[in-house]
Amino acid sequence: MFASPARHLHLYLSASLLMLAVQARAADGEAIIQKGGANPAAMPCMSCHGADGKGMAAGGFPRLAGLPAAYIAKQLADFKAGRRENPLMQPIAQALDDAETAAVAMAYAALPKVQVKVMAGAPERPKEGSGAWLALRGAWDRNIPECTLCHGPAGVGVGDAFPPLAGQSAEYIEAQLRAWRASPARPAGRKGKALAAVPPTRRNDPNGLMQHIAADLSEAEIKAVAAYFAGLGESTEPFDASQHRLR
Ligand code: HEC
Ligand code: HEC
Repeated sequence: MFASPARHLHLYLSASLLMLAVQARAADGEAIIQKGGANPAAMPCMSCHGADGKGMAAGGFPRLAGLPAAYIAKQLADFKAGRRENPLMQPIAQALDDAETAAVAMAYAALPKVQVKVMAGAPERPKEGSGAWLALRGAWDRNIPECTLCHGPAGVGVGDAFPPLAGQSAEYIEAQLRAWRASPARPAGRKGKALAAVPPTRRNDPNGLMQHIAADLSEAEIKAVAAYFAGLGESTEPFDASQHRLR
């Protein structure tokens, strides 16, 4: 009897209800962005992440607009569980329930993705050791792949697992690369009593992909590669990945 009209009606109704539920959730998500969650500790996201979701460089607040919903939900779960430590975001993530987390992730994913500027005169061969070199060529002698291998051409992001770097500020990119590194017991060049080693505050990357890369980057390289991605800028022109490959 599985093809009965009643069964069809039932399927039709559940499909429409599901669509309504999805729409309602996206709408709830927008309310959370603007007014916060049911728990007052879940402050309105836009007060830090900006009215347009594009973040605020000076505060170290990342862009959320256009990030994949699954990536956003994963980060909120990581803050909640303490795999990613941050004094501002942890209490907020803890104050969102599962439905609110899913709704706000969907609402941000629905906002426009970053549109990377078309580069006029992409460097034929960037200077070895420069930010562009690391981004496009890596440092394979230290087992550091080019960032674009995972983060996509111009760092626009790939799928749900590899977030965009384009569209994020240099401040934020640098902060994350440092968060993945452990501070050594005795910082280089520092004399005297060894301080207690500080473990990384971001420990949420699958297979330690980023922890390994960040640990092997020098402070100068962190600054250079962050400046490279932040400097790609944003435009309304359509993205042309071929402009961001080395010739
Ligand atoms: C008081 C300021 C503040 C508010 C309000 C705030 N955030 Fe954040 N958020 C931050 C900061 C700071 C970071 C960067 C944390 C870090 O460096 O790890 C961040 C990071 C994030 C990230 C990680 C992004 C990435 O690229 O990995 C997500 C997701 C996020 N916030 C979601 C939200 C949501 C959803 C809300 C609203 C419910 C919200 N935030 C409200 C300050 C805030
Ligand atoms: C082997 C794959 C891989 C390579 C190569 C790689 N990344 Fe990542 N990166 C990841 C993954 C996976 C994540 C997301 C981890 C998570 O779930 O939080 C990430 C996240 C990041 C983030 C955090 C973004 C955010 O929104 O919070 C930054 C910054 C970053 N990578 C910078 C770099 C830089 C710079 C390079 C090149 C030097 C690089 N990555 C190379 C896999 C990679």
